[in-house]
Amino acid sequence: MRIKNLELDNPFFLAPMEAVNCTSFRLLCKKRGASLVFTDMVDADIFMEKVSELGKEKAIKLLINPHPEEKPLAIQLGGANIETLKKTIAIIEPIADLIDYNIGCPLPYMLGKKGGCYLMKHPDQLYKIIKELRIAITKPFTVKMRSGWDKNSINALKIAKELEILGVDALTIHARTRVQKYQDKSDWPLVRKIKESVNIPIILSGDVTNSYLAHMAFAHTKCDFIMIGRGAKNNPSIFVDLNNYWKTKKQPIKPTNIYDKKTDMVKRDFKYFIELYERVENRNNLSELKDHTLWFARECQNNKELTQKFLLAKNKVQLHKLFNKVYFRIK
Ligand SMILES: Cc1cc2nc3c(=O)[nH]c(=O)nc-3n(C[C@H](O)[C@H](O)[C@H](O)COP(=O)(O)O)c2cc1C
Repeated sequence: MRIKNLELDNPFFLAPMEAVNCTSFRLLCKKRGASLVFTDMVDADIFMEKVSELGKEKAIKLLINPHPEEKPLAIQLGGANIETLKKTIAIIEPIADLIDYNIGCPLPYMLGKKGGCYLMKHPDQLYKIIKELRIAITKPFTVKMRSGWDKNSINALKIAKELEILGVDALTIHARTRVQKYQDKSDWPLVRKIKESVNIPIILSGDVTNSYLAHMAFAHTKCDFIMIGRGAKNNPSIFVDLNNYWKTKKQPIKPTNIYDKKTDMVKRDFKYFIELYERVENRNNLSELKDHTLWFARECQNNKELTQKFLLAKNKVQLHKLFNKVYFRIK
């Protein structure tokens, strides 16, 4: 199981997620069994601004903060300025095991500078960038995309074929358009069409929140890898379940609860996350910790009662005490 020369232990990755994938969260998912963890998108323009302001080492520490225990690490880049992208690559490549380029980003600030999903609307510009990036990157190089801009311009299949010719090593497909955002189900039949049309590995991203859905995704799309986003944000131990399924290959039972969490596992994840946060982050940001707390507690039986209390907590110790009260459906 590999992408170019990068050997991977299992087919499950942590998806890039802005404001979620801090180093401690990446490490937690790694420890739970993700074979590859992605940083959130590093905007090459912002990165190079920070390099000018602070120097290379500090810019890396501030915007990526890599940790040896999370290796292999995939660093995701965004932006459209070829020179800035190439300068960023020259600096980050030594710490990356894989470099991913994001052409699915729907955010107005990125579209405004002709990056992210704008490039799916303007494939000629995209191909120009990819040609340059392919020359600049020696590590495995992947591209993450959507199905297209809107329902009238679904062009992921055409783009995938071209990116294979241009030498991209694997493709991630989040099969929704930019206009769809998270509406509707992601288009797994499109992922299958792409898989059948190219010879590079396909990573599916979208709507896998348990091992039953992972099994379905493999069966329906024949994808090589699956990237987990929201399912991991709310439940890092999803990687434990996914690995159990992968090792036994037994068809999992369809869960009745979308996140299928287990109280003891979530508490264990929360405790470990707080420990990691203290150990590896350069900041002490209570609101960031509260975000993770709310995600971990999502869907718990006593969510309503606890949410307000989490938000009012004054420190980590209070958060911790409150989190001990969380309980999920008894299975
Ligand atoms: C909070 C959040 C932040 C995200 N940030 C990024 C990002 O920085 N780069 C990216 O390519 N995708 C980003 N995504 C999209 C996910 O990587 C993924 O493609 C999408 O959520 C579908 O997968 P899921 O159903 O497993 O969540 C983000 C998603 C979420 C929920």
